[in-house]
This record gives sequence, structure tokens and C-alpha cells, in this order.
Amino acid sequence: MPTIDVRDPADPAEPAVSSAGPGDETLAAAVDAAVKTVRRNAAAFGALYPDSTTRDDRYPLRPATAEFAEGANRDWTTSFWPGMQWLSVELTGDAELRAAALAHAADFARRVHAGEDLDTHDLGFLYTLSCVNAWRLAGDEPARDAALAAADHLMTRFLPSAGIIQAWGDLSDPAQRGRTIVDSLMNMPLLTWATETTGDPRYADVVARHVVQVRTHLLRDDDSTFHTFYWDPESGEPLRGGTEQGAGDESCWARGQAWGIYGFALHHRTSGDPESLRAAERCAGYLLDHLPADGVPFWDLVYTDGSDAPRDSSAGAIAACGLLELASVSSDAARAARYEAAGRAMLDALVTGYTPADAADSDALLLHAVYDAPKGKGVDEGCLWGDYYYLEALTRLTLPGWVSPWWPTTTADGGTDGESA
Ligand code: GLY
Ligand code: GLY
Repeated sequence: MPTIDVRDPADPAEPAVSSAGPGDETLAAAVDAAVKTVRRNAAAFGALYPDSTTRDDRYPLRPATAEFAEGANRDWTTSFWPGMQWLSVELTGDAELRAAALAHAADFARRVHAGEDLDTHDLGFLYTLSCVNAWRLAGDEPARDAALAAADHLMTRFLPSAGIIQAWGDLSDPAQRGRTIVDSLMNMPLLTWATETTGDPRYADVVARHVVQVRTHLLRDDDSTFHTFYWDPESGEPLRGGTEQGAGDESCWARGQAWGIYGFALHHRTSGDPESLRAAERCAGYLLDHLPADGVPFWDLVYTDGSDAPRDSSAGAIAACGLLELASVSSDAARAARYEAAGRAMLDALVTGYTPADAADSDALLLHAVYDAPKGKGVDEGCLWGDYYYLEALTRLTLPGWVSPWWPTTTADGGTDGESA
């Protein structure tokens, strides 16, 4: 089992790592197993959507609600499913998965034009992986229009007084107005892409303001992060941090910290802002400094070796991608090598200890994640975003020249214009 050591005492910002990461054969076998499961799931789910998390390691269809039928496209996690299909298409060229992903893109276009369940900042996750992917990988113009409609809708959530995008709820909800969350960083790429693809700077201007506020107020002096933070919606004054899915207001929710690594690194890539690079490094240092011996985070970083708290493998998968992204944007070669090694070590720990031993055991790619421990939701289960980022990490390490959907690609059909923006 690999270990990821604590940060280098000579340089608190620079993590020391001690794993070579997975070998080529291990990676190839992991990709093969993951794509087989994606194919099997595509046959089982068809045009419908699995639930956000497994139940006893199997995905049920998304449950029906008063407004939505079983398996409908609702809530914030459905795009991770076509996102996995697109990764599998890029890895294997599978024509059936490509057709399935394009059909999901059409359904996401229908959702945004019908105004269904859009009161969330997670339009970034939803429309980057479904529709931006369909446009950039298959030249699907209606998908581009849908992604722009989603970006326009996300812009309506910007609160100019506070300089933030409201995370949750409708805009008239006083409990949610003036509140954002660290996860929001991963929704910024949709807006960055919208500026790249239209030439309209308004989207990127909002990203710049929002990211500064997250950096200034959610990233704490000790390099951990608040999950959520409130501003006075009238005056724009910053008020207080708090949690929703973490162990406590002052603790560090592991997945939030992982969103921080990845989100700040992506912002640095697109904006060149050195403060975002520094923020990503600070988030990475704290997470790597608070890992148990097997290298996969507990669901909140307040827990350490000896605790029987559950792990959140999805935080590990997001952190692996974030560390690899950080390695790719770091201008210091020694530091980049260490982040790369840390990302590989994290993925190695997931491949060897957190995947089904036998494909028949589960239809998740990655076991042992936590959705929302305080609410008892999806504890020690697979989840769609854990599966997606696990496959993304595998893709990053096995597909030379892979272009990420989170980068602001400006050319349809596999173009790479934005790659080094
Ligand atoms: N429970 C928080 C979310 O769905 O984003
Ligand atoms: N973005 C919601 C979550 O990570 O649970």
C-alpha cells in the first residue's frame, strides 16, 4: 500500500511524497475494468439516470419525486454519468457510448431550455460534462447553445454587492442569499469557457470576482477551507464561515479541500493569477498533511489514523485530479514533480484499495465514498462524482495529450486552442 508523507518540513508549502504511483499494467487494468463497468451501466440505464450514490454498492435509478419521474435528469450529479461516457469514448473510441453521451446532451439541452431544476450553481458541473463535452468532442451545436444558456442562467446567481455566486436555492431564499461554498470553484470553468467561446468578457469578470472572494474568505490562515461562507446580501460585508457537509464549522471537510486544490489550480491555468496557484498549493499542502497511512482521506480531515470514521474515496479522486492539474500548471519543476507524484500515489491508493475486487461486486467504479455524513446520506457507498474523477485521473495518466473539459477549449471537435491559455 502506498503512503503519502506529510509535507516537507523544510518548506511547509511543498509536500513530500513517497510512492512511485501505479505502474503501466496496473493503470491499463484499472482503465479496462472501469470502461467495462461504464459499458455495462450504459446498457442497464439507457436514457435514464442513476441516483447520486449507490445503495449497498449498486446504483438504483434516480428516485421519482412529486415533479419528476424515476430516472429523470434532476439535481446536481447527473452529468457525471455522461461525463464518464465521454471519458470512455476518448479512451476507447466506443461508438455506442458516444451515441449514448450525445443523447444525454440532448436531454440536458431540453432541461435548460425547459427551465427544469436550475436553481443551483452546479450548472457548471452539469453543463461542462454533458454539453461542452458534446460540442468540443463531437461538434454538437445545440449542445453549445445549451451550455451557453446554462452559463447565462449561472450568471443570474451573481450577487454584485458581495461579489459571489449564490450556491444553493432560489435567489429569493433568505437562508441562501449571500452564501457560497468552496465547491463553487469547479463551476467556474463553464463561465470561463463561455467567455472563450463568445468573446464576451462578462462571464470571466464574474469568475475573477467570485474566485477572489472564495480565496480571501473560505481559505483559512492554516490553509484549510470553510465549506460555506455567508455575506450580507445588502452591504456585501463578509459575515461568517460554516459548514453543511463537514464535521463542524471549524473543521475541514475533505471533499471541500479537494475541490479547493482542483478549482484554484484550474483558475490559475485560465487566468494566470499567481494567487490562485498559491491557494491551490496551500490547499494541497493541508490535505496531504492530514492523510491517514493508506493515503485516502477520511470524510473530514479532523479524523486521523485510529479513527473508525468512514473515508471519502471521492475526495481522494478529486484530489488526485487536482494534484495532477497543479503539477501541470506549476512553474517550478521540482514542485511539479512532487505534486505529480502525490497525485499518482493517491490514484494508486484508490486503485489498489477502493475498487471492487470483482466487477460483479458493484456497479460503481470506486467504493467507500461519503456524500453527506451529517445527514447520513450516501455513507460508505459509491457515488457518481467519485466514479467520474477516478476515471478522469486514470485518463490523465493513460491518454497522452488528453484535453480536459475543465480547460476553456475554444474549438469544437477535439480542438485544443485553450489548452495553454
Ligand atoms: N448537499 C449539497 C449539494 O448537493 O450540493
Ligand atoms: N458539490 C457537492 C458535494 O461535493 O457534495
